[in-house]
Amino acid sequence: MLIHLIAAARPNFMKIAPLYHELEREDWAEPVIVHTGQHYDLNMSGAFFEDLRLPAPHLHLGIGSGTHAEQTGKVMIAYEKALMDQRPDLVIVVGDVNSTMAATLAASKISYSLRNEKQAIHSRKGHGPLVAHLEAGLRSFDRSMPEEINRLVTDGLADILWTPSSDADENLIREGILQDKIVRVGNIMMDSLEMLRERIQKEAVYKEYNLKSGEYGLVTLHRPANVDSPKTLKSICQKLRSIAERLPLVFPIHPRTRKSLGKNRLMSFLHDCTGLQLLKPLNYIRFMNLVFNCCLAITDSGGIQEETTYLGIPCLTMRPNTERPITIQQGTNQLCTVESIESRVDEILLGRFNRGSGIELWDGQTAKRVVRSISDIFNCP
Ligand code: UD1
Repeated sequence: MLIHLIAAARPNFMKIAPLYHELEREDWAEPVIVHTGQHYDLNMSGAFFEDLRLPAPHLHLGIGSGTHAEQTGKVMIAYEKALMDQRPDLVIVVGDVNSTMAATLAASKISYSLRNEKQAIHSRKGHGPLVAHLEAGLRSFDRSMPEEINRLVTDGLADILWTPSSDADENLIREGILQDKIVRVGNIMMDSLEMLRERIQKEAVYKEYNLKSGEYGLVTLHRPANVDSPKTLKSICQKLRSIAERLPLVFPIHPRTRKSLGKNRLMSFLHDCTGLQLLKPLNYIRFMNLVFNCCLAITDSGGIQEETTYLGIPCLTMRPNTERPITIQQGTNQLCTVESIESRVDEILLGRFNRGSGIELWDGQTAKRVVRSISDIFNCP
């Protein structure tokens, strides 16, 4: 069974890696990694393949940066050709980036010409691949986020919806998606974390920055709503400087954020602050070592809300909403604004935060459940 795993941007690599390794163990499966090229810098892409022990992508579409329509269109055009060439039986898309939606659109619309019977048997629809979405059902209910549009389109089209938690199942049912298509498998990000836990814990990256375990905050910001507006970005930078006066902060800077800081002459404003260290984006293992040892995270990332919840580390999410409400209800996550961030940090430093409890099926076994789901659907041996 030829299975395409679509990867595009930094958070996708941690989602395909455990699944790739699990599929590799099965005689019936031939997993093929398709990298769309949405992220292309070494430290946004290649370094992750190395850490996660992934082979070089079998197919690289090389689409690069662009506007939303450009990225989506380029992936569709390039991936349609790959689909016709390779005729996979199953296309697995992960997360919510532009490439996730674009690959889903291309795969859902393609119709292989039925030249022989084998092909018809092979492909369950009889004319194209099935599309499966891993991390289905997440909703922020905020359509100003490009990711929300990507989630809605992807889930509306996918044939199989693998969800991380019960709230995701409920969202899909509410949207009229048939229960038969939904399989709750848990959170695949925890599989990557568990797969590499020993290597993560062996590192002492924080020491390279003269930080002490449990005595610094980790910052990551890249959402357009936070970093594209000069006014908002400036206010955030002022707050970070102020927080860094009482808590050392380390801030690996995403390319989008670096561009915006540069354009708005805010880079030197941050550099001038001794408690705040600015870093390049880090590979997975080094970055996770900083997560494991921080006393709190300030972020707008989706994955970090989940990882901190799993590890019991307080997380302040600088957003008005989250598609991962379970990390607030059952985890260590809180939403905050530019205005409230400082007082929230102070509360956490006083030990006032929700400790959270474990979330069902966030256990490092999600890839196994996905493989079982595939073998059930396709009647694999
Ligand atoms: C994308 C995803 C977002 C995800 C994030 C993780 C969409 C809509 N957004 O946002 O959901 O959380 O990835 O990082 O798909 N750039 C580089 N080098 C790279 C990659 C990007 O310099 O390797 C630059 C691009 O030129 C662009 C900017 O960073 O100017 C943003 O990249 P893009 O892929 O468009 O979106 P992200 O903000 O990374």
